[in-house]
Amino acid sequence: MNLPIYFDNHATTRIDPRVLQAMMPCLTEAYGNAASRSHSFGWTADHAVENARAQVARLLSATSKDIVFTSGATESNNLAIKGAVEAARADHPELRPHILTQATEHKAVLDVFHWLEKQGCRITILPVARDGRIRLEDLLTAIDDEKPLLVSIMAANNEIGTLQPFDDIGRLCHDRGILFHTDAAQAAGKIPLDVNRSHIDLLSISGHKIYGPKGVGALYVRRRNPRVALAEQMHGGGHERGMRSGTLNVPGIVGLGAACEIAAAEMSQESARLAALRNRLESRLESALDRAHVNGSREHRLPGNLNMTFDHVDGESLMMGLKDVAVSSGSACTSAAIEPSHVLRAIGLTDEAAHSSIRFGLGRFNTEEEIDYVADRLVDVVHKLRELSPEYADIT
Ligand SMILES: Cc1ncc(COP(=O)(O)O)c(C=O)c1O
Repeated sequence: MNLPIYFDNHATTRIDPRVLQAMMPCLTEAYGNAASRSHSFGWTADHAVENARAQVARLLSATSKDIVFTSGATESNNLAIKGAVEAARADHPELRPHILTQATEHKAVLDVFHWLEKQGCRITILPVARDGRIRLEDLLTAIDDEKPLLVSIMAANNEIGTLQPFDDIGRLCHDRGILFHTDAAQAAGKIPLDVNRSHIDLLSISGHKIYGPKGVGALYVRRRNPRVALAEQMHGGGHERGMRSGTLNVPGIVGLGAACEIAAAEMSQESARLAALRNRLESRLESALDRAHVNGSREHRLPGNLNMTFDHVDGESLMMGLKDVAVSSGSACTSAAIEPSHVLRAIGLTDEAAHSSIRFGLGRFNTEEEIDYVADRLVDVVHKLRELSPEYADIT
């Protein structure tokens, strides 16, 4: 077993060697511009891009023409949400569209909403239940109150791994003629996704979350039933059906395509293996430690996710004690201070509990031996830190 151990696969993943191998020709001899129409360098690059587009589409049960390549999920979210609002306003600049999301979204959705609010949109941010899922009754009340142009609800959360009921959300939106966008950066390649079954109109993915390269992603944009209109956010040469100008990142796109193909082929086996590893870690920690709680839904959860609060232990100190293990805490550093995670706050944790939380993100390259090592180390460090905690001494 090699140290350090990487358990932070929600932040990013190691590139799969098969993905790298698929990319190599585009970084060496096949370096053409996919938009060059007059020679074989361009045709070769274009062929590689179109092959990747089909691979991405297959993972989502979509068709190739519906896939727009971007630089990652942040850009895909921006294009989907701002693009839909701007397109709706194109002929009616006086419109103040209503758009709806929920509290545990990634900042790449929440900040877009706040920015659009300043541009005159009306926004609704639904709360979530203790398990991290929205309540469908809340969604229904909000959309019946004032029909939104667009609903943006993530498929899987990046901190607590909670899966939202996206099939139900899609049906509700589709029946009412509301656009449904989902940020699937964490869900794609981990759980089955089908844009038609779930009535998804716009869906964001990212290469580096699925063992592909960084700096590449895609947006699924429905072209039929309904045809989704988006205003481009990057103006220029009119690439990607005019929705995203800029010379295509051919090696990145080829890597994203390969990553999607591998994920589609191996998803069921891989998720069973990861869920078993996660459950092993969870039960070892729960049986060895008192006052340790799992955050989010146990039932509706990404297979490789475990987010736990260890009462009376500071998450940052825990991570310091686990120096050779890469995990994340429930705190985020901003320029001003260490803030508790907005996701953990939204599911009802106190600031203190959020700061006592750790996210484990298991991935393709983790092993059972690593799980046992981390469980032993963590139990040890928690015991040591609690020995120093006067509060813990008082209650035990
Ligand atoms: C749910 C979610 N959305 C969006 C992003 C941003 O993705 P990218 O790094 O590709 O811009 C992330 C990554 O942290 C994420 O987890």
